[in-house]
Amino acid sequence: MMYEKEIGIRRTFAIISHPDAGKTTLTEKLLLFGGAIQVAGAVKSNKIKKHATSDFMEIERQRGISVATSVMSFEYKNTLINLLDTPGHKDFAEDTYRTLTAVDSVILVIDSVNGVEEQTRKLMEVCRMRDTPVIVFVNKLDRDGKYPFDLLDEIEKELKISLHPLSWPINMGKEFKGVYNLYDKSLNIFTASQKATDENTIPIPDLNNGKLDEIVGDRDANQLREDVELLEGVYGDLDTEAYLAGLVAPVFFGSAVNNFGVKELLDTFIQVAPTPLGRMTDKRYVTPDEAKFTGFIFKIHANLDPRHRDRIAFLRVCSGKFERNTFYKHTRLEKDVRFSNPYSFLAREKDVIEEAYPGDVVGLFDTGNFKIGDTLTQGEVMQFTGIPTFSPELFKELVNKDPMKTKQLEKGIRQLTDEGVAQLFTQHNGNRKVIGCVGELQFEVIQYRLLQEYGASCAFVPLSFYKACWITGDKKKIEDFARFKTANIMEDKDGNLVYLAQSEWFLNTERQNNPDIEFHFTSEFKTAKV
Ligand code: G4P
Repeated sequence: MMYEKEIGIRRTFAIISHPDAGKTTLTEKLLLFGGAIQVAGAVKSNKIKKHATSDFMEIERQRGISVATSVMSFEYKNTLINLLDTPGHKDFAEDTYRTLTAVDSVILVIDSVNGVEEQTRKLMEVCRMRDTPVIVFVNKLDRDGKYPFDLLDEIEKELKISLHPLSWPINMGKEFKGVYNLYDKSLNIFTASQKATDENTIPIPDLNNGKLDEIVGDRDANQLREDVELLEGVYGDLDTEAYLAGLVAPVFFGSAVNNFGVKELLDTFIQVAPTPLGRMTDKRYVTPDEAKFTGFIFKIHANLDPRHRDRIAFLRVCSGKFERNTFYKHTRLEKDVRFSNPYSFLAREKDVIEEAYPGDVVGLFDTGNFKIGDTLTQGEVMQFTGIPTFSPELFKELVNKDPMKTKQLEKGIRQLTDEGVAQLFTQHNGNRKVIGCVGELQFEVIQYRLLQEYGASCAFVPLSFYKACWITGDKKKIEDFARFKTANIMEDKDGNLVYLAQSEWFLNTERQNNPDIEFHFTSEFKTAKV
């Protein structure tokens, strides 16, 4: 087994949540523990304003900052942790989905007051597609939230995952007294605004010990005993295998803003979370301990400076060792490429790196060679899979407002869609262009960037499509279908045929009328069907 030590110490994950549940706050607390930042507020001030809709300067500022905070690497108790940031704004959800292809596990934050919310459901669906192991952090216990047993029920039902509480709260809101850690049988007493490194943990191996009553009072001590007895009876010991298979999610309770319950979460995370996992390609499964290097691009970030078109491509190392100034095969372009200035995101040395190992994310300067999903290898021709494109929610036709700048517009829109800013659909046997997005904000970003970076001005005409469906099946039947439905048939960036349905009713009707054609909601057909 190659690079056993390097692989063993790495954990690559993302924190995901519905906006406002506390993702940024939790991220910041984890970074404080890892020594990656010294003061609270450092991450917070970088956060994309959730409610910004048309403040371009703000978007630009955030794009600059979000490169720096896209990957946050830090060490904690001899573990090298790579935390991949995901955008908080729902309009950039697709960026989050792609980032999830580059992690090995996630921490899902749920607001104890609001419970499961819309974005929580969507993110969990994406995790389920890849069986990503999930740890749940129920946040804001300092507020009067839902009753913990009800919350567990709600999460299990709504997110279709079994839960396994590893900590348990003593009351909540004003009465919140702390959490009992079921994993190592200790009690953590709550005091608001503890300092990051403060420890207030009292080992209580036996809950019947009178010490518990002294600390939390008789009533709460008895309630905790009852709850824990019930929990231990129902859940027993954590089945780590089931967690790693994405079937069971350990649950922690706490309050991120008060830095409470965060250390327990982190300590357990480094013990149970998976080390870098293998990935599937179109040819075979690649395991991290293979001697030869492989990796894929999951995110591309454009340069802020419009005079420089270079971009930063984010590479996830999947196997072997990545080395600076070494030629690797870009399998889609079938050419060899090398990088003289690859950089790491380790907080203390945000600098050029010489080597990287499975689980690491490397920033590569790119002059337009990369698309999302591109694969680098040491010669083997293959392509990593499992980086699907999802159907957008909004569709608009792209209209060129300046015929003198047609070339710039074409180039700009291709580069922006390669970056994954939005999806481009081109009319089958035609030139009409339709842009598909998740939220309005993306259209504004495109319009702004086309003008700023490519000098091309465009307008968008809303189209009333409901979903984009990738179509597969009998070739002749597809050709006939495409001929009858010219106005609805488009090609995606890779030339795959896509049917744009006006409504669910139209889609169902077409499915009934065309039993030999399959309609898919994602570009990777094996994983999800309509
Ligand atoms: P997000 O990244 O998931 O969108 O959430 P974020 O961390 O920004 O948290 C959203 C709001 O919830 C913030 O308040 C934050 O302070 C608050 N919050 C986070 N953790 C807790 C907690 O444990 N208890 C309570 N009561 N609140 C918490 P805000 O008013 O939007 O921002 P700010 O004025 O506090 O900066």
